This record gives sequence, C-alpha cells and structure tokens, in this order.
Amino acid sequence: MNQNELKKTLSKLPLGEIRYYDSIASTNTEALAWATSDAEDLSLVIADEQTAGRGRLDRKWFTPPGSALAFSLILRPRADEKPYLTRMVGLAALAVADSLQTRGLFAQIKWPNDVLLNGRKVAGILVESVWSGDEVNCLVIGIGINILKGAVPPPEFVQFPAASLEESLGPEVQREEILHDILAGIIALRPHIGTDSFITSWEKVLAFRGEQVHIEEGNGNPVTGKLLGLKSDGSLRLSDELGNSITVRFGDVRLRPHQ
Ligand code: BTN
Repeated sequence: MNQNELKKTLSKLPLGEIRYYDSIASTNTEALAWATSDAEDLSLVIADEQTAGRGRLDRKWFTPPGSALAFSLILRPRADEKPYLTRMVGLAALAVADSLQTRGLFAQIKWPNDVLLNGRKVAGILVESVWSGDEVNCLVIGIGINILKGAVPPPEFVQFPAASLEESLGPEVQREEILHDILAGIIALRPHIGTDSFITSWEKVLAFRGEQVHIEEGNGNPVTGKLLGLKSDGSLRLSDELGNSITVRFGDVRLRPHQ
C-alpha cells in the first residue's frame, strides 16, 4: 500500500485529501487533529500499521503491518444530517457489511459497532466527534478490518471471538478494493441517513435479532432481554420477560448464555 496506488484506486470517489502513513500511532487521533484544523469533508487518513490503535471503551486495537485495513474518514456533517448523527456508526457498519455481502459473505452487525462473519468479529468502528460549542462540527469514522490472519489478535487480547477476511476469501483478498467499496458505500448511504428505510436496512443485518442477549452498559447494571431491533436514533430495542420494552443506548451485546 502506498499513497500513489491508493490515490489511483480511489480516484473515482469524491474524497477530500488522502494522507497515507506506513506507520502511525492511530489514524483516528491524527484525523481528529486534522479535523480541528482545515480538513475538508471526506478527507481520509489511512495507515499500513498502527502502533497505538484505539477501540471503544479505551480498548486497544491491533494493526500489525501489511495485514489489516485501518483508516479514518472525516465528515463535516451538513445541516440536514445533524439530527441523525447517532446513526453514523450504523451507516459505517452497514457500508462494511455491504462490502462483504457483495463478496458473497454473510456479514452481520453486532450492535453498535462490530461487523461479524459467521459470528466472529472481523471489523470494528470507532466514531469520534469534534465539537464547536454545543454543536458537532466534525465526525471521525475510524474503521479497522482484519484482512489477513496475522491481523487477528491472540484470543487472550479480545473480548469477543475474532476472525479475518482471509479465512473466508483466501489470501488473495485485496484490501484496497475493499477500502474502495466501503468508502463508496458510505458516500452512497449518506443521503439516506434520515430515512426509515435506512433503519430497516440496518435492522436486517443486526446479529442476535429475536435472541436473548446480555448487554454490559458499563455502569455496572447489565441488561438482559430479547433483542427486537432499533429505535429511530439507532439505540437498541429489547423486551424483558414481561414484555416491557427496554432501550439501550450504550454497551456491548453478547448472546445470553443458556441457563
Ligand atoms: C472497536 O471495535 O472497539 C473499534 C475499533 C476501531 C479501530 C479503528 S482502526 C482505524 C481507527 N484508528 C484507531 O485508532 N481506531 C480506529
């Protein structure tokens, strides 16, 4: 991967500037700094290796050289997108899932930000924002994908079973083409972010729908219930044993162990 090759592969997409690094601490950290200065909409930071990649909930994200996709896309939301910013993580996850489904794979979204293949995590998304007063000025959508087997962290470092695209697509898997398709997907989905059909498409690929799940909300109060779908802001709809509805805005979903 290098800057010239990337520019060629992505030349047909209406992106802003592209900054490629052989190695960087974190593309999201770099993109956040750029977003607070002069980055235009759809600028891209991408690296072959991250030495301090970041995941949600202060977790580390593993990006060894030559084996993964790690990139951050800067969005300057337009006025009509601002009411729907909580849907952006879903938009990115859908674009990743679609890029895998067009390759014949059964991809699902583990709410809110993981993409699964056959029940194992192949991609994670970290959306961060830059505020100006009480308005979000910029969003940074960070996407990490395990392309080759070498990108999959050892089991003791992961909270959820992980896999790589190589295991499903073979060693010839082309990360630049996958990058292209995800970016094209984000650009194509963006005008639909405020529609009901966007939520329906997101719900269709939600993992564990109709199943009993356990969610750690990070406040010491785990929630259990049947996963029904999404609310209009992208939060999760569950129902408890009595059929009461529960809304979860934050957390990590797991299948509830059989009791
Ligand atoms: C998660 O699953 O917790 C989210 C992982 C997000 C990782 C990506 S890799 C590119 C971008 N840069 C980072 O430091 N993190 C995101």
